[in-house]
Amino acid sequence: MSVHLGSTQLTSSAHRTITPSVLYFGTPVVLITTRNPDGSANITPMSSAWALGSTVVLGLGDSGQAVPNLERERECVLNFPSADLWERVERLAPLTGRHPVPDAKADRYRHEPDKFGAAGLTPVPSQTVRPPRVAECALHLEAEVVSIRPGAEGGFRIVETQVRRVHAADDITVPGTSHVDTDRWHPLLYVFRHYFGTGPRLGRTFKAQT
Ligand SMILES: Cc1cc2nc3c(=O)[nH]c(=O)nc-3n(C[C@H](O)[C@H](O)[C@H](O)COP(=O)(O)O)c2cc1C
Repeated sequence: MSVHLGSTQLTSSAHRTITPSVLYFGTPVVLITTRNPDGSANITPMSSAWALGSTVVLGLGDSGQAVPNLERERECVLNFPSADLWERVERLAPLTGRHPVPDAKADRYRHEPDKFGAAGLTPVPSQTVRPPRVAECALHLEAEVVSIRPGAEGGFRIVETQVRRVHAADDITVPGTSHVDTDRWHPLLYVFRHYFGTGPRLGRTFKAQT
């Protein structure tokens, strides 16, 4: 049985139906570096990403600069900022590498050809792809684009990438291994348009190797 409560609907003693404007339930922030047509680098902050095996799938809006860059160049770097970098990520938030700025974004975004400079970030060369890595990020995944297809509801693309090389900062790796030290890696999370860090470890899965 359900009871109407204004625009929400109570569906049990503990839950109600809601219509949130976004479904950003909480995923890590990724700074995607791609190559612009003139050879310069763009940085796209995003968070609709997931990994399985060596595949990373990205959800990217059609109106940004990342989609045309990925369609043309077929490569990128997925740079993962730690929580303490949130203010620099937010400096990138109102910027786009797209010129001219699409009408739908014109009131809130401005074109910025130098996103590294605007955010105070440092480019370093990659090893298997042409876009640079972001030095300040502790984890870099160099990746090739495998497929790009339209999302069913329109307005965005689903980009499947294959990771070719992983770089991890010394201070987040377990010395002498390829394991990330989860006591020292603190990814920046994007939760319903707010930035969060992670809390203390709660436990480990039976498959954990560290
Ligand atoms: C923390 C954060 C997460 C975002 N997540 C996404 C996302 O998952 N997909 C997307 O298309 N845009 C996302 N955006 C918006 C893009 O960053 C924005 O459209 C930006 O203008 C893209 O830059 P570009 O046009 O230079 O590629 C996010 C922005 C921020 C700040």
